[in-house]
Amino acid sequence: MKIKILMVCLGNICRSPLAEGILKSKIDSNNIFVDSAGTGHWHIGNKPDPRSIEVAKKHQLDITDQRGRQFSKQDFDDFDYIFVMDNANKKDVLSIARNDSDKEKIYLILNEIFPNENMDVPDPYYGGSEGFQNVYRMLDLSCDSIANRL
Ligand code: 4NP
Repeated sequence: MKIKILMVCLGNICRSPLAEGILKSKIDSNNIFVDSAGTGHWHIGNKPDPRSIEVAKKHQLDITDQRGRQFSKQDFDDFDYIFVMDNANKKDVLSIARNDSDKEKIYLILNEIFPNENMDVPDPYYGGSEGFQNVYRMLDLSCDSIANRL
């Protein structure tokens, strides 16, 4: 059975689409399925933010096929690991969890590279393109760690 990994942020247009694209580039898609979702509903059906598309392209990744969707309870049944980008995402996802088994699937992605520090991937939405480059670098290192363990 494939291992299923879900990347979660607020809008599903900036951080989690990058996390999805980066992790997909590091794993064997025959064995591992990667998807992303947002806790918010504003960008359902939308392409990733142009600034995420641009920084991905700079690193030879094409994320233009992705479309925004909202995280739901069903995702606890469909995924083995749920990586959230920040503590607000964690709180929102935890609030939907039905039991301990759901809760145990939730991980802060930056704990991959800064264990137990519970740091946030900063939301780059209201900033400039350098924020997206910074997010890319953090997610690239975190996804290296995830891919090495799988
Ligand atoms: P993301 O960034 O959570 O990394 O996709 C955001 C995108 C959109 C909004 C907030 C954060 N928004 O408020 O629309």
